[in-house]
Amino acid sequence: MTQAILTPAARTGTKPETGPDTGAGGNARKVFVKTYGCQMNVYDSERMGDALSRDGYVTVDSVEAADLVLINTCHIREKAAEKVYSQLGRLAKLKRQRNAEGGDLMVAVAGCVAQAEGREIIRRAPVVDVVIGPQTYHRLPEALARARNGEAVVETDFPAEDKFDGLSATPEKAIRARGVAAFLTVQEGCDKFCTFCVVPYTRGAEVSRPVGRILEEAERLAQAGVREITLLGQNVNAWHGKGADGREWGLGELIRRVATIDGIDRIRYTTSHPRDMDEALIEAHRDLPELMPYLHLPVQSGSDRILKSMNRRHTAEDYLRLVEKIRLARPDIALSGDFIVGFPGETDADFEDTMRLIAEVNYAAAFTFKYSIRPGTPGADMEGQVNEAVKTERLARLQDLISQQTRSFGRECVGKVVDLLLEKPGRNTGQLIGRSPWLQPVIVDAMAGEIGDIVRVRITQPGTSGLFAEVVE
Ligand code: 5AD
Ligand code: SF4
Repeated sequence: MTQAILTPAARTGTKPETGPDTGAGGNARKVFVKTYGCQMNVYDSERMGDALSRDGYVTVDSVEAADLVLINTCHIREKAAEKVYSQLGRLAKLKRQRNAEGGDLMVAVAGCVAQAEGREIIRRAPVVDVVIGPQTYHRLPEALARARNGEAVVETDFPAEDKFDGLSATPEKAIRARGVAAFLTVQEGCDKFCTFCVVPYTRGAEVSRPVGRILEEAERLAQAGVREITLLGQNVNAWHGKGADGREWGLGELIRRVATIDGIDRIRYTTSHPRDMDEALIEAHRDLPELMPYLHLPVQSGSDRILKSMNRRHTAEDYLRLVEKIRLARPDIALSGDFIVGFPGETDADFEDTMRLIAEVNYAAAFTFKYSIRPGTPGADMEGQVNEAVKTERLARLQDLISQQTRSFGRECVGKVVDLLLEKPGRNTGQLIGRSPWLQPVIVDAMAGEIGDIVRVRITQPGTSGLFAEVVE
């Protein structure tokens, strides 16, 4: 898989929102939510925020203003746990100050580091009141109540019930505050066990949410003004479920159905594993104008030897043929990828295979990583760990090639007329930012329309952090 769906910063980060109807001031409890990592963590933070808002919390935008700090952690980051512990050290200091002044501070740690470390977090950082893994978020309000009674709560099992069933629907007001492009988790966990990756251990086995639940949530989003939905899963294209017609559906069929929802004009999905790109999904790209021509399809390496040792279960050639097939179905599709350099045993020749694959595919964007050990994964014990200087040099060359490709993709867009979904105000007044079908941020004059409009624009020039465009009359 996928890969844990890391995204550009523009889409991550949990924005403070207007709280529940209790009003933001007064005696409401205040929570500060800090989100690291992938889009799924952003989604989970939103859902936890919803649960807390029903529990009387309002969201604030600083630790200083908060009674509760909720850290939603990511284990994909290098030295992820150590970074969390040093952050908890700072929070312990703040709590001591608060206590000295007669106040208090509660701390909850969620996400994949919580899952991986469990009780160890409370042992090493007694400031923490609640440790809660990604599959138990529906228990958060109850866990906080127990913590208020003095218990140190650790909730890291993989319960049989669907966590989303326990988290009731997001209020319309909160959906509106989050904007016109929303995330919707359809699948979680991973059974692929790539040898570098912690996800199968922290997020657990692959689970698909049922069709009915997904459609209900998509309808609610549409009713609250959302026009673009990104379906999320660590291994999103492994999603399957029983369709309305009684047949077993895959992601392609699900997307076809979501596309019929009034108001949903754009659909994306991430992250996909090459092995799970089936015919129905490729046909959805061919047939559905709502399905945006952008695909995050990580390959990690271009060397068959390394792919095998990574347990990716496909060859470089398999991937290239797949890309060819997808492009045949949707010629203007933009591809992005994830790459790891310096996986154990990677030689210069293996790395050159990766560079060749990149040159052949021609990516619109990519996330690039130096291999780093995740304890407990098979890669950690492999021979032939690559030295840091070599990784640094390979990463620089790879990034150089990718950024050339990204820039030339931007340049090729100049002159094209595209539909832009206006998402938010630009950095400068008088500007709005929207997304092109290929996920590029595009800056237009604020007179182009209102947030939530889809407008026709002509791309005029590439910029440093996006493209510029003008409205086509
Ligand atoms: N070292 C480096 N990169 C990693 N990724 C996952 N695990 C590791 C690791 N141990 C990268 C993969 C994945 C992305 C989300 O993070 O490229 O697709
Ligand atoms: Fe993706 Fe592989 Fe990790 Fe699964 S094990 S989340 S397929 S990188």
